[in-house]
Amino acid sequence: MSSASRNSASRNSASGTTVPGTAAVEPDRAVTGRPGAPHPLVDRYGRVHTDLRVSLTDRCNLRCTYCMPAEGLDWLPRAEVLSDDEVVRLVRIAVRRLGITSVRLTGGEPLLRRGLPALVGRIAELGAEVSLTTNGIGLARTAEALRAAGLHRVNVSLDTLSPERYAALTRRDRLADVLAGLAAAHAAGLAPVKVNAVPVRGVNDDELAELLGFAVRHGYRMRFIESMPLDAQGAWDRERMVTADEILARLGERFDLHPVGRSGNAPAEEWRIAGTDAVVGVIASVTRPFCGGCDRVRLTADGQLRNCLFATEESDLRALLRDGADDDRVEAAWRATIARKGPGHAIGGADFVRPARPMSAIGG
Ligand code: 5AD
Ligand code: SF4
Repeated sequence: MSSASRNSASRNSASGTTVPGTAAVEPDRAVTGRPGAPHPLVDRYGRVHTDLRVSLTDRCNLRCTYCMPAEGLDWLPRAEVLSDDEVVRLVRIAVRRLGITSVRLTGGEPLLRRGLPALVGRIAELGAEVSLTTNGIGLARTAEALRAAGLHRVNVSLDTLSPERYAALTRRDRLADVLAGLAAAHAAGLAPVKVNAVPVRGVNDDELAELLGFAVRHGYRMRFIESMPLDAQGAWDRERMVTADEILARLGERFDLHPVGRSGNAPAEEWRIAGTDAVVGVIASVTRPFCGGCDRVRLTADGQLRNCLFATEESDLRALLRDGADDDRVEAAWRATIARKGPGHAIGGADFVRPARPMSAIGG
């Protein structure tokens, strides 16, 4: 059977694993011949995965209080981190065989990865859209080279505009570097430059409208993210999380906002500021989970494939690569991981289990 007809059959009839109430989709398209087009990466619930997040390092040069302790973490030994060749091989399989169209490079802090522009260039050559999530430190130096290498977009984390608060929140006095990084990304044409802020009660929740005003003035796109229980210390507290409703209420005190919905499977719901082209996004992972439209799969810096940010199991692709597995075997492992993907997370629910890795070691 051709790849295309197998796919349409699997959407309509039960072959392979079935889940009550969902379209059954076969997980194990792997060992047949490969005629050209990728065969989509579809899970038991019919979600098509087109977005790959690749963490390039678990290290970071900041110590955001909502993410990790002051002393940092036990970083992965270098030998355990995928090499550039290994990353490129996995991304090639993802793009050519699995239908991944968008690759987001994350960390830790991905700018700490040596030779990043060259790696971006190799990934961009595979034909996927390439974007980067960074804390912005070092971006002033590298934005131009990254753009030239084929990077399309950046998301820069910035939670406050006050140098003192920034130093307290990230435990490093680097606000000026981030602002310079944002400006450089904008000048290099890495558009739209998105600014991500995580509001935390009593820390920066009085500053949300100011952050939005700053982004609008500079032509950046502001996004607010509800904090998730993914910090390394296990100190997340629902009471300190600022909900999407509260974020919107705060912004509404200064801006006239009109809902514009969600674009595609994007996690951000967007609002337009009346009378302008500016939009602001809110990512309500906790209070309005968007798992039903999830199109993401994640690869950690040490080559573990995760079907969810909150997954409690991983698939060891690095071991496969280093054992000499061919692309068919890697593809089969990848599809099997997606076949095991659950319907969604249940943060705060009785069944919720925190993943063993913190966010900084998974990639945002
Ligand atoms: N909850 C929500 N967002 C987080 N980030 C880091 N840790 C958390 C968390 N626990 C954000 C960073 C960055 C993006 C990758 O995720 O601030 O903007
Ligand atoms: Fe680093 Fe991002 Fe964690 Fe801050 S939130 S410490 S920038 S990985």
